Amino acid sequence: MQSDNSGIETVFRDCLTAFPWRGQQTEEIIRLRHAISLSDCLVAHELSAGLIGFLVLERKKAYVSHLFVNPDWRLCGVGSGLLGVARDMARAPLQLDVDTQNETAVRAYKAMGWIEKVGPDPNRAGQRRLSGP
Ligand SMILES: CC(C)(COP(=O)(O)OP(=O)(O)OC[C@H]1O[C@@H](n2cnc3c(N)ncnc32)[C@H](O)[C@@H]1OP(=O)(O)O)[C@@H](O)C(=O)NCCC(=O)NCCS
Repeated sequence: MQSDNSGIETVFRDCLTAFPWRGQQTEEIIRLRHAISLSDCLVAHELSAGLIGFLVLERKKAYVSHLFVNPDWRLCGVGSGLLGVARDMARAPLQLDVDTQNETAVRAYKAMGWIEKVGPDPNRAGQRRLSGP
């Protein structure tokens, strides 16, 4: 929904502060808006806090381009909940790329049963391809 856009971008900006290796926030926001315009966007709301997480899904490819949870609401099942809904919508195991430096996210995905594609891929320098259960 259009009314979620500001909450989505707030969560995204808060999360990006922990990614010093990423480029300009403005470019990341432009990429996010473009992805949302072409894809399905799932959001998680909490009564007292509003929008606390979101996921962008390229449904036909079963590909997750963005998954971000407000730092104050992590380890509460928000990420796994969004991935579960996305998995149902895609009707296929999901895939995503995670920044090589983002070891926290890789730990989370592995805890959820995701596996890493073996071998480097020149098309995705600086990222690791993971496949979901
Ligand atoms: C990665 C991220 C989406 C996980 O979301 P979350 O809501 O905290 O995840 P959940 O609470 O659903 O946890 C799912 C599982 O991952 C585990 N997990 C979550 N964060 C973890 C961490 N930092 N280290 C180890 N395990 C972790 C949980 O314990 C849980 O495992 P369990 O099912 O065995 O209990 C969230 O940390 C995040 O937004 N990170 C910043 C943005 C980011 O890196 N996005 C990914 C880009 S590809």
